[in-house]
Amino acid sequence: MNNCSLDDVDLPMLYSINNNMKKLKNGMNIMDIEKGIINSVSLESGREAALFWVNDTLIAFDSTCPHMGADLCGGYHGGSLLICPWHGYEFDINSGDIVRNPNIETMAKIRVRSDTFDPACKVEYKLKKLKVLIRNNQFYIEER
Ligand code: FES
Repeated sequence: MNNCSLDDVDLPMLYSINNNMKKLKNGMNIMDIEKGIINSVSLESGREAALFWVNDTLIAFDSTCPHMGADLCGGYHGGSLLICPWHGYEFDINSGDIVRNPNIETMAKIRVRSDTFDPACKVEYKLKKLKVLIRNNQFYIEER
């Protein structure tokens, strides 16, 4: 019998929504890409990309979180991390790999290992990185 209650658990911090999110179209001028926020770009396929500056480099990812589909444009970017607004998973902006899932510690505390469930068993998630081209001061995000 598990005697652990939610009161005993430090729940992970949830991140606030990025209300500064700016909507852009592929092919617009790079001067429209605001620094310090995650810009949302509509792609031809109807999908959205999360686009942001890291120093003088433009980084783009498919904006759908591989965990449960949150819009990453509403998340947070800081240092080498992109953080999902729904459950706080942290992704490396160079590789797209997940580097921290703050729910793992919580789930390990509130769930009990059994024959069919192992709280140490982690599912790995990876962001889909998109290629950004710049021509004549206009940016183009390639979908593959
Ligand atoms: S939907 Fe992104 S971490 Fe859950």
